[in-house]
Amino acid sequence: MISNQPWGFYGRQQELAQLRSILQRQRWFFVQIAGRRRIGKTSLIQQAMSQAGRAKTLYIQIPDSDPAGVLTACNDYLQTFGLTERVAHLQQFAQLIGQLVRQGYVVAIDEFQYFHRRQLFDFCSYLQAEVDKLASQAAPVTGGLIVLGSLHAEMSALLEDRSAPLFNRTTDVLSLDHLDFAALLELLDVHAVIPQPLKQLLQPLY
Ligand SMILES: Nc1ncnc2c1ncn2[C@@H]1O[C@H](COP(=O)(O)OP(=O)(O)O)[C@@H](O)[C@H]1O
Ligand SMILES: [Mg+2]
Repeated sequence: MISNQPWGFYGRQQELAQLRSILQRQRWFFVQIAGRRRIGKTSLIQQAMSQAGRAKTLYIQIPDSDPAGVLTACNDYLQTFGLTERVAHLQQFAQLIGQLVRQGYVVAIDEFQYFHRRQLFDFCSYLQAEVDKLASQAAPVTGGLIVLGSLHAEMSALLEDRSAPLFNRTTDVLSLDHLDFAALLELLDVHAVIPQPLKQLLQPLY
């Protein structure tokens, strides 16, 4: 039996605390959030960004598309987040990220693994140029970049391969695993009608 409570956010207290401390660092950060598809990466970053209470945030989800499709999506997100800038090519997109982070923005790029595609790969070198500038002036930079992606092989080819432009550039990595038992029980408690005898049986686990 399922109740019709609105779907909420459960658990992940440790990951939220870790992100909170990164977001409050007031110093350049480049975070990778890894974990398989549907494990909860997007939900986590959205929760962390809304809790952080930082006015300057930008979230962009990269579509599985060519450069034109990616730029259209970026411009839509820029508009949604109330930014007046628009990007016409991938280098300009990377430069805008650098500019926004320097202004104190937290920029989250979701489905980052798509930059492994041949037709988008140049973006990695453009982003490397920006990231290296930001890292070398870490003290006055108060914003940061968060990348999320699911395909382990592609994400490591982008960020951990020695020959990759962005090799060794991340400052923090968060690997998401499944929700813990307490969070699952909390979720069940709100969304499923658990028969009383079963609830009593589960009580010690809450
Ligand atoms: N902490 C959470 N609490 C409740 N629901 C969650 C949580 N994390 C993920 N979900 C749900 O699980 C589904 C997949 O999560 P999502 O964040 O889209 O995963 P990913 O970005 O890793 O593919 C979504 O429907 C989302 O609402
Ligand atoms: Mg996602």
